Amino acid sequence: MCGIVGYTGYEQAAPLLIDGLSKLEYRGYDSAGLAIEEKEKLEVVRAKGRLRVLEEMTDNGRALHGFCGIGHTRWATHGVPSVGNAHPHCNAKKTIAVVHNGIIENYQSLKEYLEKNGYHFESETDTEVIAHLLDRYYSGDPLEAITKVMARVTGSYALGILFQDHPGKVFAVRKDSPMIVGSAEQGNFIASDIPAILKYTKNVYFVNNMEIVCMDADTIHFYNVDKEEIEKEMTTISWNAEAAEKDGYEHFMLKEIYEQPKAVQDTISPRIKEGEIVMEELGMSEEEIRQIRRIYMIGCGSAYHVCMSARYVMEALTRIPVEVDLASEFRYRDPILEEDSLVIVISQSGETADTIAALKEAKSRGARVLGIVNVVGSSIAREADNVLYTWAGPEISVATTKAYSTQLAACYLISVYFAKIRQTIKEEKYYDLVEELKNLPEKIQQILGDKERIQWFANKFASSKDIFFIGRGLDYGISLEGSLKLKEISYIHSEAYAAGELKHGTISLIEKGILVIGIATQPDLYDKMISNMVEVKSRGAYLMGLTCYGNYSMEDTANFTVYVPKTEKYFANSLAVIPLQLFAYYVAIARGLDVDKPRNLAKSVTVE
Ligand code: M6R
Repeated sequence: MCGIVGYTGYEQAAPLLIDGLSKLEYRGYDSAGLAIEEKEKLEVVRAKGRLRVLEEMTDNGRALHGFCGIGHTRWATHGVPSVGNAHPHCNAKKTIAVVHNGIIENYQSLKEYLEKNGYHFESETDTEVIAHLLDRYYSGDPLEAITKVMARVTGSYALGILFQDHPGKVFAVRKDSPMIVGSAEQGNFIASDIPAILKYTKNVYFVNNMEIVCMDADTIHFYNVDKEEIEKEMTTISWNAEAAEKDGYEHFMLKEIYEQPKAVQDTISPRIKEGEIVMEELGMSEEEIRQIRRIYMIGCGSAYHVCMSARYVMEALTRIPVEVDLASEFRYRDPILEEDSLVIVISQSGETADTIAALKEAKSRGARVLGIVNVVGSSIAREADNVLYTWAGPEISVATTKAYSTQLAACYLISVYFAKIRQTIKEEKYYDLVEELKNLPEKIQQILGDKERIQWFANKFASSKDIFFIGRGLDYGISLEGSLKLKEISYIHSEAYAAGELKHGTISLIEKGILVIGIATQPDLYDKMISNMVEVKSRGAYLMGLTCYGNYSMEDTANFTVYVPKTEKYFANSLAVIPLQLFAYYVAIARGLDVDKPRNLAKSVTVE
């Protein structure tokens, strides 16, 4: 999704803005632009394509000399990727410049209103209405104009704004799209995400919905919609700029795959004290945990896949019924939330628009909402009743890996913890599970040590047209994730099926030589999985089996077998996902694709 950076201070603004935008490239974009105060005028430069084009046009920003500006990377929603649609957008006199992340839902009616009042539009974007509305309401007081615009627009927005007659000042405002403010020695920043400014400061303010920012080189002021000044607390970010760099790896995705042992360890170990799971951050008493009658798990994309897998673990261990929903469906399906329901929303970014909407929907129906979130201070972290942070650190690659693994780990912790309190598992089993949770990071590390075989196999199948993933139970959950990982970065068509479903239609797609990856880590379902694999093999499929050490009979059926260490059956997804991530990565590399920035995708999906 679009990325915003703004700066005002004592250094040349454009090079800092371009550098900041480069740290937001992971969000996905198709054009970029800058507006810089130059000799009391606003100079706007826009380019289609990669940031490199903007860098070349401005000599890496050095050709623009001002000390105050806003920058933007655009991910097209309204209007094709083009120079004309790239941000910033301005009023006709070019005295107001705006960058925007989000969608103005009522832009058509606003456009008609503005056109009737003599405004002329140069782009196809929804954003341009903001520039003209600001112009219409502006009579020297930026706050007045901004609050009037806020009252007129519906939808989501994070805006960075410059007014030519307020030199040295950057204004910003947000509703349902992310925005932070950074306070640094060389000046002050606004940004869509922390990595953009981490090189300059760790001191940030999280801007809440409907809050307005006005900053110059030395001061930052926050206002509410009534233009009253408000106090905000500064947060110091604990990770450093290096954590958001590639650190010698060819891609962020590979680096993040390799960071998984640490990320899982960092998520699990602070919650295990003297052999017991301690989860005060859930904010629930033992009595409240015993009273839960139903759990709803909600997310999008891979976070949804975590929910799909976690359901098996949670239901098996706690005996609480679990419903799983895609956030985009939950929000509109008029859900029936019983009393004593717990809603768990899962999100890496904490800014996914559909997940935020589902959270709000659940809260408005009286449910208690627990957020499992990676980005500290993000919208979901702030709006959920309680938050369980996954300590994955910054995840830059669009394809999630370490965040997914830590979300799974967080769900295991909750499941085992609830099971103990509700006495649905024996004490001995509880301690075995806790012990095995502690072993997971080391076992993940072991799998990473054996990547060459997977790399070799991925090369062999890199020109496939279709690849299928099948599994039962928890292995169905991981099949979904393996398939998504592959398709999002390799662009190979792929589907994941519950292995028992094949006979009901999908098996007709199986033809000679097609790769089917059969995942069989669950002891109770192993034989049934082998039967399903034989079914596709006899129809010509080439079989890769993914199972645990010890299940060597897999080799009688599969053409190629990958083993992962044995673990408690409930936790097997955490190990099985690693070869699948590596497989997707190496297939995409063999196809020569941009693994970290797959086409059409954005890291943080802040629009519906
Ligand atoms: O930030 P979130 O966890 O809420 O993001 C949800 C999905 O957009 C995300 O998992 C997406 O599916 C990834 N590209 C998967 O790799």
